[in-house]
Amino acid sequence: MRLGGLLRLGDVVALTGDMGSGKTTFIQGVAQGWGSTDAVSSPTFVLVNQYRRPDGVKLHHMDAYRIQSAHEAEDLDIEVMIESGSLLVEWAERISDVLPVERLSLELTWVADERRNMIFIPRGKRYEELMKEFKHQAFGG
Ligand SMILES: Nc1ncnc2c1ncn2[C@@H]1O[C@H](COP(=O)(O)OP(=O)(O)OP(=O)(O)O)[C@@H](O)[C@H]1O
Ligand SMILES: [Mg+2]
Repeated sequence: MRLGGLLRLGDVVALTGDMGSGKTTFIQGVAQGWGSTDAVSSPTFVLVNQYRRPDGVKLHHMDAYRIQSAHEAEDLDIEVMIESGSLLVEWAERISDVLPVERLSLELTWVADERRNMIFIPRGKRYEELMKEFKHQAFGG
């Protein structure tokens, strides 16, 4: 995913969408585009999956599906993750209150077996810029 190449330290992408809408698949593609040298693994039984890159920057993939309370969400060390890399969160609505207000929101919906719909909503200047670059790369012009 080209979006991966545009992500910077401190960027937050909040994914929402039903089960099977493609959140994990999307993030795995982003991790490849970002330049991950680690094998892509499934975060199904792990809350946070970390990808590494030779320059030491990290990409954190969090699955908030099993988070039960705001209290639990506060123990996640979100700030620490953002200081060391980018953070992409599945089921972001479950920990919305502890995520930075400024972030890229992405809503995925299932359309058909081989089709997904994506709605990107940039919240804040950095993410408006990011979307501009992303559209430029994807569609030209
Ligand atoms: N863009 C896509 N095109 C075609 N198939 C896709 C696409 N994205 C995901 N899939 C397929 O849909 C299924 C579910 O995808 P995925 O696990 O990424 O969903 P998810 O949103 O992470 O689900 P969960 O909420 O359970 O974590 C997988 O079999 C995957 O291969
Ligand atoms: Mg998933």
